[in-house]
Amino acid sequence: METASDATTCILFVCLGNICRSPLAEGLFKEKVRKRGLENRFCVESAGTGDWHLGQPPDDRMQAAARRNGDLDISEQRAQQFAPAHFEDFDHIFAMDKSNLHDVLFLDEEEQYDGKVRLFREFDPQPGDYQVPDPYAGGREGFDRVYRIADRTTARILEALLDDEGEKGGGEDGEKASG
Ligand code: 4NP
Repeated sequence: METASDATTCILFVCLGNICRSPLAEGLFKEKVRKRGLENRFCVESAGTGDWHLGQPPDDRMQAAARRNGDLDISEQRAQQFAPAHFEDFDHIFAMDKSNLHDVLFLDEEEQYDGKVRLFREFDPQPGDYQVPDPYAGGREGFDRVYRIADRTTARILEALLDDEGEKGGGEDGEKASG
């Protein structure tokens, strides 16, 4: 019998190319989930609204920033394009900037899914303009900045989702997030 603690929450991070910001968010979120032994509770992917980089690994500069800042390996990820089927497949869709948000919502023709699509930085305790700056055309500092934003924001998203589950009944042993 399925209990609330067996439920899997599926999360999709979306940016433009799916080679910089959203793969990093995917990697950071998965790492936080793994460290807490919650792998069976979450499925996590990322996608781009554009199709230029399909099948490619994350940008070398993003991979380097992930290693430099967090000893995190995101090299196994491969870019995919956001598609309307993702609205059904995922419970929460986090867009990295307002343009990505607009492009995702544009594909929601019946306006059925807008409740599950949000800006990623709504969860950032220091949200700035609520957008993750696109680092693609800039230098190393831009990639490091994306790392800092994505690291603290994925932490808050995980806490928020665990709190939500707790409010809905959570695990039978009351295993809610601590620390
Ligand atoms: P991302 O960055 O959306 O964070 O993956 C970009 C990657 C590629 C391009 C733009 C932004 N591009 O123009 O190819």
